[in-house]
Amino acid sequence: MAFYVTTPIYYVNGEPHLGHAYSTMAADVVARHMRQRGEEVFFLTGTDEFGEPVAQQAEREGVTPRELGDRLAPRFKEMAARIDASNDFFIRTTDEGHMKRVQEVVQRVHDNGHVYEGTYEGWYCPRCADFKTESELGPGNTCPIHKIELTREQQQNWFFRLSAFQEPLERLYEERPDFVTPDFRRNEALAFIRQGLQDVSLSRPNLKWGVPVPWDPEQVIYVWFDALLNYYTALSYGREGEDLTATFWPAFHILAKDILKFHAVYWPAFLMAAGIEPPRGMFIHGYLLMGEHKMSKSLGNVLDPFQVIDRFGADALRYYCFREVSFGQDGSVSPAGFETRYETELANEYGNLASRTLAMIERYRDGTVPPAAVDAELAEDFEGAVPRFSELLDRVELSQALEDAWKLVRRLNRYVEESRPWDLAKDEADPERLDEVLYNLAEGLRVTTLLLAPYLPQTSERLLAALGEQGRGLADLGSRPGGQRIERLPPLFPKIEAPA
Ligand code: MSP
Repeated sequence: MAFYVTTPIYYVNGEPHLGHAYSTMAADVVARHMRQRGEEVFFLTGTDEFGEPVAQQAEREGVTPRELGDRLAPRFKEMAARIDASNDFFIRTTDEGHMKRVQEVVQRVHDNGHVYEGTYEGWYCPRCADFKTESELGPGNTCPIHKIELTREQQQNWFFRLSAFQEPLERLYEERPDFVTPDFRRNEALAFIRQGLQDVSLSRPNLKWGVPVPWDPEQVIYVWFDALLNYYTALSYGREGEDLTATFWPAFHILAKDILKFHAVYWPAFLMAAGIEPPRGMFIHGYLLMGEHKMSKSLGNVLDPFQVIDRFGADALRYYCFREVSFGQDGSVSPAGFETRYETELANEYGNLASRTLAMIERYRDGTVPPAAVDAELAEDFEGAVPRFSELLDRVELSQALEDAWKLVRRLNRYVEESRPWDLAKDEADPERLDEVLYNLAEGLRVTTLLLAPYLPQTSERLLAALGEQGRGLADLGSRPGGQRIERLPPLFPKIEAPA
């Protein structure tokens, strides 16, 4: 009955953009849905503040890494709040509670015999904070992601014996076919494991900005291990005075494909080395693209989520992202695409369904939902919708679940067109049928809105209140006998005004 979901923690080396917001919105949809199912949920997001990605950016800006983090971490925190993320905690890896726990776990891995001292020689990308194998290098020894020339590094440092975990990892993947989803990402990770694992650096000798290695404080822990451990450390201090580890571990992770190797290979191996249970699972999503290109700070092609939310609200942004791009795949987003979906789907389909349903109940039945029977024709299309929706969200099929809910919106609009309540209302030609139509519309809208609540938290709240619905959980969904008082609402998705 406990569910723990996480986002990646974001580097504080630039302003948050829609790519970051995307992962956080996804995790939030899952968290909210699980709460609706009555699960006890812990939802974590935060910032990754150590290592070269942050230290080098700070140097470029002529500030200390701590100053950079102190300026940008609040921006990420604000972003989470603006997109309506319902996170239970916001972790910063510079938190003392995190650092202390990281050292404890790393010490345990050491004491369990999985750490040794050696010489690393190879290619390192400071922007990825990643040691590249020959097969991962771009032409001319460049980073294939950042397109920068890499330097060959030789250093004395501590190694984590990743190679010893090849078999345990293969077993884990075999025993739990849904450990990594979607399937094609699982296959990618498994292929990486099967090609043979090399030991990886656990520390950085020439860097000051990090968590000190407990038995060798001249070195700092390699940022990826410190960062991954956030998922575990947060439970020990994320709620004042309580250790939540026993309740919530293991976690379910949401992340994009760029950091698959760290999460799907290094992370479970490291946990096993520490004697900690591996994650419950992870979903790997694709990239939001602008045109052909990944939206990213270094490319400067970012859509500012703050601006979109200022004009259209967080719900519209959340809806658009999961509707426009099939979750799991890469896909392009654009301001024009956003406006089209806002107008044709949110305003004209859902917004309009809500206004006309409320308006007709007000006009024809004095603002009270008339008690009536379920219309068999409509009921057929709602039959099984809730368990199907839950099952899709169990698999984090966010776009498919949204598509299913949207089919119900469209079905209800068709129901209005087919049953023509305005004709039924003329001279009260058939009052019983009008009762039935209005009752079924109110019920259909209520159920659909409850399903959509994780995607559209603000809109659903307003609409459910207007429909006189007190319950917010899926267990409360049942059917209502009618008799509720409704209230009219201003348009849920008002017409787009040209920006000033
Ligand atoms: N700090 C590491 C993660 C450590 S997790 C233990 C890091 N940070 S990051 O700031 O680069 O964020 C990467 C993550 O941000 C991606 O995995 C993804 O979740 C999200 N995204 C950033 N840009 C994105 C897109 N353009 N599209 C989709 N997601 C994107 O890596």
